[in-house]
Amino acid sequence: MERILVIGANGQIGSELVDALAAKHGAENVIAADIGPRSLYGAKMYEVIDVLNAERLIAIAEQYQITQVYQLAALLSATAEQAPLKAWTLNMDGLLNILELARLRGEVSKPLKVFWPSSIAAFGPNTPSQDTPQFTVMDPSTIYGISKLAGERLCEYYFKKYGIDVRSIRYPGIISYKSPPGGGTTDYAIAIFYAALRGESYPCFLEAETTLPMIYMPDAIRATILLMDAPADKLSIRSSYNVAGLSFNPQELALVIKQNLPGFDIHYVPDSRQAIAASWPQSMDDTIARNDWGWKAEIDLQYLVIDMLRNLKISQPSQIGLTIAA
Ligand code: SER
Repeated sequence: MERILVIGANGQIGSELVDALAAKHGAENVIAADIGPRSLYGAKMYEVIDVLNAERLIAIAEQYQITQVYQLAALLSATAEQAPLKAWTLNMDGLLNILELARLRGEVSKPLKVFWPSSIAAFGPNTPSQDTPQFTVMDPSTIYGISKLAGERLCEYYFKKYGIDVRSIRYPGIISYKSPPGGGTTDYAIAIFYAALRGESYPCFLEAETTLPMIYMPDAIRATILLMDAPADKLSIRSSYNVAGLSFNPQELALVIKQNLPGFDIHYVPDSRQAIAASWPQSMDDTIARNDWGWKAEIDLQYLVIDMLRNLKISQPSQIGLTIAA
């Protein structure tokens, strides 16, 4: 039986992963944790945890006899540029605390199995941008990307040196409707839906033809669980796996939204996030993930747009100016 701790449970991935893990392993076996107020999602337990507090992590792991940790607490790319030192400390020390926790638990019971998210941001301007290979030039230019690349090296180091069963995905930009955009460069592709449903022209902070790798949340959750379920001896990558969903640019996304909401309009006011996006891949080669653990994305752009528009109306009515009848 697994006992699973999800740190960063209030975030974009965490909130949906907690539900999926609770459905799979039982709500009583999932502990949601974050620095903010209690929000359980599908879990039965919630703990206020600062991932920078190593002693508290050790105490919680003992209290609940934790067997798996998902360490999702981090600052995203655009937010991190506003506070680089804070981002470095949270993103790096947070991961290190979890890797050390996994190692130390191995001395008293079983070592913990760890999931940690990397990102397309670990690549940089000299990385081949089309079908970016698993192994290639990595010269990230954002503090977020630098922390992801360093984190990948730490994951592989802890696997090789201490045998820690750590698994990771280089997520594309994740699109979802359950939580509002959270400071990422790819988050234009979420914010655009709020504007569309409010009947506003969307001021896009990226240029029209800035293609980026993206993935819809149900595919991202499925990838995460597939990877965590895979037999350890099938995994050839212990840094972080390339995973592809779909690739599109703001103009292409706007076109599909317009097919569903004919009045929708977009205009372009690129800001500092354009340079970040321009340094990232446009599409990913995920052959190794396909071969090692059977990954294959399922969701296309048409489905994503229709599903986002339908579900945003239901899950975020106040954000898009709808009132719900009492
Ligand atoms: N979606 C993230 C961001 O834009 C990239 O991992 O910051």
